[in-house]
Amino acid sequence: MTTVAQIFQTMEYGPAPESDAEARKWLASHREPFGHFIDGVWTHPGRTFEVIDPSTATALAQVSQGTKADVDAAVAAARQAFAGWKRLPGHARARHLYALAREVQKHSRLFAVVESMDNGKSIRETRDLDVPLVARHFYHHAGWAQLFENEFAGHTPVGVIGQIIPWNFPLLMLAWKVAPALAAGNTVVLKPAEFTPLTALLFAEVAAAAGIPPGVLNIVTGDGETGKFLVEHPDVDKIAFTGSTEVGRIIRRATAGSGKKLSLELGGKSPFIVYDDADLDSVVEGVVDAIWFNQGQVCCAGSRLLVQEGVADRLIAKLRARMEKLRIGKPLDKAVDMGAIVAPVQLDRIRGLVQRGVDEGAAMWQPSWACPTDGYFYPPTLFTEVQPSSTIAQVEIFGPVLVTMTFRTPDESVALANNTPYGLAASIWTESINLALDIAPKVKAGVVWINSTNLFDAASGFGGYRESGFGREGGREGMWEYVKPEGLGRREDARSEPEVRNGVTPGILDTGHFGRGERPNDNRRPALVPPINRTPKLFIGGKQTRPDQGYVRRVHAPQGALIGEVGEGNRKDVRNAVEAAHAAWKGWGKATGHLRGQILYYIAENLAARSEEFARRIDAQTGCGDHEATREVDAAISRLFTYAAWADKYDGSVHHVPIRGVALAMNEPIGVIGIACPNDRPLLGFVSLVAPAIATGNTVVVIPSEPHPLSATDFYSVLETSDLPAGVINIVTGAKDPLARVLAEHDDVEAVWYFGLASGVKTVEEASAVNMKRTWATWQRRDWFDARHGEGKEFLREATQVKNIWVPYGE
Ligand code: NAI
Repeated sequence: MTTVAQIFQTMEYGPAPESDAEARKWLASHREPFGHFIDGVWTHPGRTFEVIDPSTATALAQVSQGTKADVDAAVAAARQAFAGWKRLPGHARARHLYALAREVQKHSRLFAVVESMDNGKSIRETRDLDVPLVARHFYHHAGWAQLFENEFAGHTPVGVIGQIIPWNFPLLMLAWKVAPALAAGNTVVLKPAEFTPLTALLFAEVAAAAGIPPGVLNIVTGDGETGKFLVEHPDVDKIAFTGSTEVGRIIRRATAGSGKKLSLELGGKSPFIVYDDADLDSVVEGVVDAIWFNQGQVCCAGSRLLVQEGVADRLIAKLRARMEKLRIGKPLDKAVDMGAIVAPVQLDRIRGLVQRGVDEGAAMWQPSWACPTDGYFYPPTLFTEVQPSSTIAQVEIFGPVLVTMTFRTPDESVALANNTPYGLAASIWTESINLALDIAPKVKAGVVWINSTNLFDAASGFGGYRESGFGREGGREGMWEYVKPEGLGRREDARSEPEVRNGVTPGILDTGHFGRGERPNDNRRPALVPPINRTPKLFIGGKQTRPDQGYVRRVHAPQGALIGEVGEGNRKDVRNAVEAAHAAWKGWGKATGHLRGQILYYIAENLAARSEEFARRIDAQTGCGDHEATREVDAAISRLFTYAAWADKYDGSVHHVPIRGVALAMNEPIGVIGIACPNDRPLLGFVSLVAPAIATGNTVVVIPSEPHPLSATDFYSVLETSDLPAGVINIVTGAKDPLARVLAEHDDVEAVWYFGLASGVKTVEEASAVNMKRTWATWQRRDWFDARHGEGKEFLREATQVKNIWVPYGE
């Protein structure tokens, strides 16, 4: 027998197994296969599939494959429960969420063990990270339920939420999704991943025992097909998805035009940037947490190690020494660092990508020890000599594989860090806080950790940019995903804007040359002296530019008289406008809020000086009458003042996260936003959308009202005299829907706003899947005069993305 003295000599770890007895007892209590949890009861199991323990490759349980009928039943139950749950006072919902938090804590070890068995991750992680964070999420959101009426005044829950989660943090992802949804008064149908459904089923049981009303939380198990039924269900009001970018794209397309709200938390290839003054020993432990935590199956894993050249060799040597000491083994052993990979298919994917890395010429290194062979294990792996364009530097491996690249200057580090279609997270390691805080805003990522990595908390939002998806989870930011402005109605209630068809509706325009001797005229003025023939051009890069294809559109008054012409913009014009907007963004995005505010005030001042002329033009186009037209111009001026006011006031916040440090939640501009304006309110609609976008530091390409574009083209001269830098606002007149599609498909447009027909919403949302850009597309008509719907924080939120920068402090 080994003696204590011998142990001191060798310092070998002994086995430290956590018992699985309680977990097995719980599984055994479900002697027949699991059914779904719908309307507060378990359904009879239907067709089932096996759930496997990946560390032993043996079956743990049988669960049901959700059918369309199952999903229908769950959605119906959630719909029925919605009215009652929504009506509950916030305090009552707070009590329910508080009860869930307490129950999770009460059963914490059972949850931790079942999670480890189901997923293969180490008990150390499930016990110390996943489950405590789950409880923390329910506590935090019990708070939002309590504060709901005041903090989210003017907003209501979205309705029935379909939630689809992945297998890497099964219970934690459930908490991230369920807690805010319920806190805001929504009801939920959640589908866990097919590899890891067990803790969701245990949670359902615990929630029912805690008194969550039937139908408020429904769990339907199954694979992607079940997920598809949920995504396509017509009575689901929002889909919240975490998983691969590939499936995120499918869901974006499937929900396009349905009016469903959507949040996507997708893949990543996050940079872990090390400068030459960093504390390299801390860096090594950081890397362990960044890429070997949860076997690297982490969406925000620091999978690209970017090291300043001077310290690269030293760091790699230290890392290799540390990798030799990592312990891989049975997940329920309390002393292992790494457990098993979730499933054979994932193991094959990792192996395949590692082989690809080797084939493409990178140098691969693994520790000398061997992995257990009776489950799905993969050793920690390090690649050096990696080309930035190689597959392993670009593709999310979702395994314990780190790729290393070097850089010389901070600028180069930023370029390398942003050389990815993703934008989820980043870690920055340096002893210079100046450098760290200079780099953090430059890295395109939703979360930045300084001298730390993989820190999460319920108070701090999490989510990505670009192909990492959109929407935030956690904190106040995350709550917005589960509410909508009061009074905008359900999707079916939405009134479509009057459709624009050539020659069908009043005020319509069409394309073409003049016929029958027509000449543009102001229908209000007697035509004694012929007006000067004037055709507004497009407004691109601060210049009035002729449309590429040399066609014009005629603009008619409601009675049919010809009142003007505008350029017919095409794809090439949009491309030029996007280029101009991009060039302008470099400066405008960095301009101070004060400066942006001053320019908006100046635009308002110059518009006010010409208000009569603008009112006349509105009346001429729409026939709304003098009074209404004057009211519109006044409202536009006021709106410009609103966003001039907001320009230096739409602050971020500092989150109280449970570390010695702070998380700075910064509202960043998105970049270039494409805006398709509503047909009605040609001036106010235009200003209501453009002003918040530029106030927050974005640059825009705008398609003005299709039937009434002259208010926007008149606006050029206001802009020209208001010190607005060239390219901040670009205007392309023409056919709204085709131009909006070009914007949505454009890789360099970061977001598209579309106000128009349901068919246009569908087109824009579908096309946006190309680079997963953010869209704000609606066919719900707004009363642009009403400040509750026509201006305010909803617009500012759509114009910004929150970046959470975690800054630990203390020596
Ligand atoms: P996945 O994206 O296919 O699965 C995530 C969830 O979506 C699961 O619940 C799945 O059943 C569901 N789903 C699949 N197809 C669907 C569809 N058409 N409609 C609705 N729901 C659908 O991820 P998977 O297959 O498990 O892993 C594949 C790769 O995705 C991994 O190798 C990894 O690279 C990446 N991944 C990334 C995650 C992240 O958080 N970034 C999480 C999971 C996987």
